Amino acid sequence: MTQTIKANCSTDLSIRDKKSAFKTHSPEETQEIGVRIGSQLSPGDVVALIGDLGAGKTCLTQGIAQGVGVYQNQTVNSPSYILINEYEGKIPIYHIDLYRLERLEDIVALGLEDYLDGDGICVIEWADRMGELLPESHIRVIITVEDEFTRAVEVLPTALK
Ligand SMILES: Nc1ncnc2c1ncn2[C@@H]1O[C@H](COP(=O)(O)OP(=O)(O)O)[C@@H](O)[C@H]1O
Ligand SMILES: [Mg+2]
Repeated sequence: MTQTIKANCSTDLSIRDKKSAFKTHSPEETQEIGVRIGSQLSPGDVVALIGDLGAGKTCLTQGIAQGVGVYQNQTVNSPSYILINEYEGKIPIYHIDLYRLERLEDIVALGLEDYLDGDGICVIEWADRMGELLPESHIRVIITVEDEFTRAVEVLPTALK
């Protein structure tokens, strides 16, 4: 996390008011989208990341952490074994990965309510597995693999009524 990624993409990205869609052509570009999302996040926000294994969810989360302003020298990687990683910063981030929890009852058993209802930011990989547990108001990011280096990244604010 020592490297600073410049968020210089010209397409509008507003996580509260409207949908936006991007094509990225490298992990760095996907991180850059993450930086732009992270810089707009506030305490209590939930970011739901949806996409196959290797789509770029963890890569995007690295950018989100930078955009939120986590303190330096914290490694952002997939918490597949630990399930939840916490990063300290201006706002704490709870990075949750549900890859290993296919059954809803196992996710329920994790007791995510305290994280979801708290003042940190939750970034959740495989959030589509949460069903009703996912708060209605969240920022949904869908990443689709188009080819080896190309990803379609859609950012959808679901708080919109
Ligand atoms: N445009 C891109 N955006 C993100 N990752 C990419 C891109 N092109 C190639 N990759 C590669 O895809 C992989 C994404 O991994 P990761 O972020 O761990 O995925 P996930 O968390 O969705 O399983 C990395 O190996 C990365 O180098
Ligand atoms: Mg991952």
